[in-house]
Amino acid sequence: PLQLGIMASGNGSNFEAVAQAIKDGQLNAQIQVLIYNNPDAYAAVRASNWNIPAVLLNHRDYSSRQEFDRQIVQTLRQYNVDWVIMAGWMRLVTEVLIDAFTNKIINIHPSLLPSFKGSRAVEQALASGVKITGCTVHLVSLEMDSGPILMQAAVPVLQGDTPETLHARIQVQEHRILPQAIALAAKQAL
Ligand code: GAR
Repeated sequence: PLQLGIMASGNGSNFEAVAQAIKDGQLNAQIQVLIYNNPDAYAAVRASNWNIPAVLLNHRDYSSRQEFDRQIVQTLRQYNVDWVIMAGWMRLVTEVLIDAFTNKIINIHPSLLPSFKGSRAVEQALASGVKITGCTVHLVSLEMDSGPILMQAAVPVLQGDTPETLHARIQVQEHRILPQAIALAAKQAL
């Protein structure tokens, strides 16, 4: 099984989708640890419900992004993580993390990259007037929301959508493609 470390900042529905895909036999993996950076992240509650270790690393306790990433790398190594999954991780990462897990960090982003990079991608898509958006799973490189694309899914923007209704429609697709993309990345790395 792939030994996953998941990084999340908030709700953790993508963490949940990966855990469920593993339980359902759709992904041959185990989640070694959840790392979360906001003390009130609901992802931590989900991890507890799955009996998965959760480690709070609060970026506010570190003086630089590099120092923060060094602690992340140490924690990932401590839990014998092989693949790192950023599932709603809302911090920029540095070469400290990228170089420690070369081509083994996967991110999910709520747009069809290269459109709408950065935070608030759903709001950006809505404001731009596009009729189709979606989600992207990609390998992480140093440049934000770049790196080789593993999978994408398209999602229609509907009349009357708010950021919340559109994001909910995108998340259905995220939960479907993230586990598939993890399996694909592992296969491609062989
Ligand atoms: C997801 O929609 C993910 O694509 C997005 O945050 C959400 C987290 O949801 N990530 C980004 O915007 C990264 N820039 P979740 O906590 O329910 O998995």
